[in-house]
Amino acid sequence: MRIPFFSRYLVFVLIAILAVVGLILSLFNANWLWLAIPCIILTGLGIYDMKQVRHSIRRNYPIIGNLRFLLESIRPEIRQYFIENDTENLPFSRLQRSIVYQRAKQQIDKRPFGTIKDVYEKDYEWINHSMHPFHITDTDFRITVGGPQCKQPYSMSIFNISAMSFGALSANAVSALNRGALKGKFAHDTGEGGISKYHLQGGDLIWNIGSSYFGCRNEDGTFNDEKFAEKARHPNVKMIELKVSQGAKPGHGGILPGAKVTAEIAEARGIPIGIDCNSPSTHPEFDTPIGMLKFIQRMRDLSGGKPTGFKICVGHAWEFFAIAKAMLETGIYPDFIVVDGAEGGTGAAPVEFADHVGTPLREALRLVHNTLVGIGLRKHIKIGAAGKIISAFDIARTLSLGADWCNAGRGFMFAVGCIQAQVCHTDKCPTGVATQDPKRAKALDVDNKSERVYNYHRNTMRAVGELVGAAGLSHPNLLKAHHIARRISPTEIRLLSAIYPEFQENDLLNGIYHSRLFEVAWPVARADSFDPNEQMEELMIKLNAVYRPYTATTIPIVPEEKNTSST
Ligand SMILES: Cc1cc2nc3c(=O)[nH]c(=O)nc-3n(C[C@H](O)[C@H](O)[C@H](O)COP(=O)(O)O)c2cc1C
Repeated sequence: MRIPFFSRYLVFVLIAILAVVGLILSLFNANWLWLAIPCIILTGLGIYDMKQVRHSIRRNYPIIGNLRFLLESIRPEIRQYFIENDTENLPFSRLQRSIVYQRAKQQIDKRPFGTIKDVYEKDYEWINHSMHPFHITDTDFRITVGGPQCKQPYSMSIFNISAMSFGALSANAVSALNRGALKGKFAHDTGEGGISKYHLQGGDLIWNIGSSYFGCRNEDGTFNDEKFAEKARHPNVKMIELKVSQGAKPGHGGILPGAKVTAEIAEARGIPIGIDCNSPSTHPEFDTPIGMLKFIQRMRDLSGGKPTGFKICVGHAWEFFAIAKAMLETGIYPDFIVVDGAEGGTGAAPVEFADHVGTPLREALRLVHNTLVGIGLRKHIKIGAAGKIISAFDIARTLSLGADWCNAGRGFMFAVGCIQAQVCHTDKCPTGVATQDPKRAKALDVDNKSERVYNYHRNTMRAVGELVGAAGLSHPNLLKAHHIARRISPTEIRLLSAIYPEFQENDLLNGIYHSRLFEVAWPVARADSFDPNEQMEELMIKLNAVYRPYTATTIPIVPEEKNTSST
C-alpha cells in the first residue's frame, strides 16, 4: 500500500528517529553524540523546510529537497568539468578557452594526432594554403588609423583589447590588461566607464564614450567639452571611440545601481558616489546622422585631431546607410568604425537582447565594408571588428571579410584568468576578473596576469603570421574573402567571396546594389534622419518575404556554377 505522506517525509522521519535514538544512546556512551548532533541539526533543517514558504519542493520533501538546490547551484561547474564536450559553445568552447590559456601561459599549443573537428560537417571553414608559403619573421602586424581629417594617426596592432569598463571588470583586471598592452604595444579600449587610474599603467588607450559620457559629462548627463578635451589629450589616449551600440544589448540603456558606485568608480565616471546612474539608450548630443558626424568632428577637434570613430552593432540597414549618406553630404569622415557582432559579450544584458537583437558580426562587417567601398570612402576609414574572436583563424576570417583589425573582449578576460563562470552580473566572480569585491579581486595577481595578456597577444600574432604565410601572403591585410572556404553541405563548398559579395569602388554611387537589401534600403536612407524616406510598410513589402539580403543567394554576384569551388 502506498503512503504518500510517508514517502515524502521518509528521510525527515528517519533522521528524526535517528536523532532521538542517538540522544538516548549518548546517555550511556558519549560517542553516540556523533550521530545525534548531525541528526538534530538536520531535523531542525527539516522543520524549517516545512515552515518556509519560498520553495514548495522543500516543504514537500524536507531535508532531501535541499539537494535539488545544492546540485542546481553547482550544475555549471559539473557541466563544465565533466559533461561538456570540447567543441560545445557555452558561449566559448573548451577548445577556445584552452587555446587562450595555453598561449597566455606559454604552454604547448600544438595538437597531436590530427584535427578533432569533423571536416565534412556543415559550416566547417578553412584557409586555402599556397604552394609558395611566405616566411614571415616580424609578426608585429600594424595598420595606421587616421583619415584625411585626423592630425595624429595611430599605428595600431591588428589585435587589441575590446572595450570593458572599470566597473564591469575589477581594478586588478584592468591594470593587468593595460600593463599587458604596454608590454605588447597594442591598444586597450577603456570601455564606457571612463578612464580610471587602473587604465593609466602606460598602455595605449582607446577612449570608449557611451551615451552617459562618463568622465566627460555635466551633471545633467550632457557632454562637457572642457572635461573631454583635458582627458582626450592625455598622451596615452590614442583614439576616441563613440559607442553607438554594443552587440550584446544594442538599443538598450542601463542603470548603474548606486550600491556599485564606489568612490573610485565615481571618480572615473564623474558621477556622485552611491547614487543610481542612468545610461540612456540614445545619445543626448545628437539625433540625426549629420548630428552624429558633427559630434565626431567636435570630439576629434577637441582631442587635438586624434583618430575618432564609432562603434556599432548594425541594426536597420537604412540607418547605417543614413550615416554613410551623411558622410557624403557633410564631408566629415570618421577615422574608423568598429563593428560589434550580436554574438558580443557584456557584463549583463537582458536575455532577449543577448540572444535575439542585432546583426551577427560577419553579415554586419560585410555590410559596413561594402557600404564604404560602394561610396568610395573605404580608403579613408578603417574598420575594427569584435565578436567571439579568439584564435588566429578567427582573426584571419574576420580580416578576410573586410576588417582592418580585430578586438577581443572575453578572449583577454580568459587571459587574465576568467573561467567562464558566467556570474559577472552577481559581483561574485570566482577569479576576481569581473567583480568589485576587493577581496575577490585581490586574488588576481597583476604582474602574473599582465604577462599572460602579453603572451596571449604575442603568441596569437605568431599564429596569425604562420596562417597568413601558409596562404602565401606577406601581411594579414592582404587576406580577402576568397582565401577562406566554407562547407555548405556534405557535397558543396563555397569561398566566402561567393557567400558574401564584394562591392567595387563607387558601386553604390553608380546604382550597382548587388543585393535586394542595398537596392531597397540605400535609396530610402537619408542623411538628415535615421528614419527612411518612405513608409516602413512599403519598405517592408519591397524587402519581400524572402529576407536573405546579405547573401549571394538572392542575387548571385557571379554565375551560380562559379560560386562553387571544388578545392
Ligand atoms: C564584461 C564586458 C564589459 C563590456 N563593456 C563594454 C563597454 O563598456 N563598452 C563597449 O563598447 N563594449 C563593451 N563590451 C563589449 C566588448 O567590448 C566587445 O565588443 C564584445 O564583447 C565582443 O567581443 P568578444 O566576443 O571578444 O567579447 C563589454 C563586454 C564584456 C564581456
